[in-house]
Amino acid sequence: MNLLVRDGLLVTPEYMLRADILIEDGVIKEIGRSLRPPAGFEVLDASGMLVLPGVVDEHVHMREPGLTHKDDFEHGSKAAAAGGVTTVVEMPNTLPPVDSGERLLEKAGLLKPKAYVDYALYGVVHDGSVDKVKEMLEAGAVGFKVFLGPTTGNIPPPKLSSLVKLMELSEQHGFTVAFHAETHEIVEFFTERYKSQGSSPRLHELARPPLAEAHAIRTIGSIQEMVGGRSLIVHVSSRQALQAVSEFKNRGIQMYAETCPHYLVLSSDDYDKYGTLIKVNPPIRGREHAEELVRALNTGLIDTVGSDHAPHSPEEKKAGVWEAASGMPGVQTLLPLMIDLALRGIVDLRRIPLLMARNPARLFKLWPWKGEIAPGSSGDLVVIDPREEHVIREEDLYYKHKTTPFIGWRLKGRVKYTILRGNIVARDGVVEGRPLGSWIKPVG
Ligand code: DOR
Ligand code: ZN
Repeated sequence: MNLLVRDGLLVTPEYMLRADILIEDGVIKEIGRSLRPPAGFEVLDASGMLVLPGVVDEHVHMREPGLTHKDDFEHGSKAAAAGGVTTVVEMPNTLPPVDSGERLLEKAGLLKPKAYVDYALYGVVHDGSVDKVKEMLEAGAVGFKVFLGPTTGNIPPPKLSSLVKLMELSEQHGFTVAFHAETHEIVEFFTERYKSQGSSPRLHELARPPLAEAHAIRTIGSIQEMVGGRSLIVHVSSRQALQAVSEFKNRGIQMYAETCPHYLVLSSDDYDKYGTLIKVNPPIRGREHAEELVRALNTGLIDTVGSDHAPHSPEEKKAGVWEAASGMPGVQTLLPLMIDLALRGIVDLRRIPLLMARNPARLFKLWPWKGEIAPGSSGDLVVIDPREEHVIREEDLYYKHKTTPFIGWRLKGRVKYTILRGNIVARDGVVEGRPLGSWIKPVG
């Protein structure tokens, strides 16, 4: 908990600067040159390395309770630590779903002894839980999730009247609603249409066209235009979705956008190679969408990059295109993939602490305790060697099931140390010590 990180290159959204960081009792105390460690402090030599704030991944499905055949919080939070993620915001589509204050408290308690990183919790809003939003807030929810389209957990989309009520509450209480923005009816219609056309994994893309995303985003934005509130459109995957988001942003609506590494580094050409391993909702699309998403990362149209870590068992992933589960694990490869894009000059390096730490922390009321390298903030850092390369190997992944397309990928840069409140929790991708993670309620 008492640590001096010496002589690293700090990467913040505003500047890059060689400096030492002194962490005392888990909190950043001082940033400066040639700091002297007080007696008993551990010293970590970071010369030649990049030092970033620990990643805040605002989009993980760790599967506890109820879906532990897919994965569990011990495996998932270890994977997070190994990959440079120090805070996860856990999605509520578990079994039972987190749709009341009591269930939120139960889940928080269940995860605590298994947490290798800090965690915060979403509540889910459906027609039956919109009147429990206040109760979930009081219990400690940092935000809410709405599923407008069908996916794991089969939580039905709320009626428009429930969405209006929810966004009114968002305006009143200042919380963010994360939307799975694909309109249910459009997905159903196109799924039925393409089901008769065979079993190529590529058909999944056609079954969930960009229209479903853009339509859902316009529904959300139109409600916000009337009642306000704050939305985060998660896993934006298409040009059309970006276009819709930019229209609302330009009109001053508080709409934010997230994308995920798989939409940046994969494209529909990869269905032949990976099959249903890359089946995910919304789907991986053509290269032109990936290119536009990368542009949007650099221009600020996209605000966060989350993993949408969504593990399933190999049996669930191997089924035919229409039956296979959607989603892939990603929390351990989130930062390595983004660092690779930065070191290859595709994404601006200084965007990473903004997209993957400050912005998600702000959206979910965890800032400035999380997501920032500054005195008074949590001593959460990730130290990266930009000179090393890193091959993703199956045996290094902490997930229960290694159902990821990224095995064998060679990436630039390597996560060397993950530091949680001044404790080194992973070295060279190996998790150390006992679970030190704690549950975080809104601080902002
Ligand atoms: O592919 C997906 N899988 N998309 C989602 O939004 C949910 C996720 C899951 O929970 O499996
Ligand atoms: Zn998700």
